[in-house]
Amino acid sequence: EKGGFKHFMAKEIAEQPGVLADAMAHYLQDDRLNIDVDFAGVGRITMVACGTASYACHVAKYWFEQIAGLPCEFDIASEFRYREPVLSPTSWALFVSQSGETADTLAALRYAREHVARIVSVVNVPTSSIARESDLALPIMAGVEVGVASTKAFTCQLLVLALLALKAGVDRGRLDAAALAGHIAALRALPGLMNHALQMSGDIAGVADDLARARDVLFLGRGAMFPLALEGALKLKEISYIHAEGYASGELKHGPIALIDEDVPVIVLAPRDALFEKTVSNMQEVMARNGKVLLISDKAGVEEAGQKTWARLMMPDCSPMFAPILYALPAQLLAYHTAVAKGTDVDQPRNLAKSVTVE
Ligand code: M6R
Repeated sequence: EKGGFKHFMAKEIAEQPGVLADAMAHYLQDDRLNIDVDFAGVGRITMVACGTASYACHVAKYWFEQIAGLPCEFDIASEFRYREPVLSPTSWALFVSQSGETADTLAALRYAREHVARIVSVVNVPTSSIARESDLALPIMAGVEVGVASTKAFTCQLLVLALLALKAGVDRGRLDAAALAGHIAALRALPGLMNHALQMSGDIAGVADDLARARDVLFLGRGAMFPLALEGALKLKEISYIHAEGYASGELKHGPIALIDEDVPVIVLAPRDALFEKTVSNMQEVMARNGKVLLISDKAGVEEAGQKTWARLMMPDCSPMFAPILYALPAQLLAYHTAVAKGTDVDQPRNLAKSVTVE
């Protein structure tokens, strides 16, 4: 049932181009968004989730703001449900959950129900409690995810959230037909680019053999790559048991730079986008303190800034807007191969459950 793979996680990582294409076929008809929502009149989006799903929300905040100019916030469910959040009747609340059964997310949904105009959920299990208690449940179509570490659910969550941001952009008059077509073409390119990224698995395994000896690892990113840094760190922690932290690159000098020495690998997620130069300058600060930098970028980025780094992964070019969807793959593969090198239980990491139905 692992389809020739050693672990479910490896199989589920490899399935991503296919499931992403399936989800696109479901939600996109030519250049039309097949999503039954209308964002006209929505004052604010409040997104709530736990763990990896919360990082999908965090990425989507950048999209809703940039693409649709829509005020948007997100929170982790365990905080949201107890902090008496101020919601408004023109707000929509959006809940993201693979299982649809996460106790804190469900409780947050029940709290929001009394306070917002509409409850929308983005789920993998359409019969789940969160789906059933939503006004609208959008399936991510990832298929069954067995590995405790969420992989294909994350990228499918991101896809559905990206499509929602596009729909919001159209409904709010922020995206004309040409701009929409451009974004859709960029999304449609992703499965092919993901196949290309999957072929880097062998190179990534080589880096992971070294990473497996680290005690601490830092992940850095800017813009929508910041939440991806958080996700990369979570993935590494949960399956390889190596302490890892994700930071916004610009936060480095506000504390974490004190950790840097030759024993701390720093993984920099930096496609050659508008923020690249800024991230590179943070990366150079790390290298000046003998930090071991792994730069994950595209050809232009690696050529421009990769020379003195400890290691480099050259990703295919993609739209900067949706780069988090593609760059999720090397982050997942790094965690996977590091865990394999350490010999941990990849699919069933200690102390963790696939579905967290108690708070
Ligand atoms: O089923 P959910 O998406 O609600 O689960 C949320 C988290 O428990 C989950 O994403 C967790 O963080 C994963 N194990 C991360 O890989």
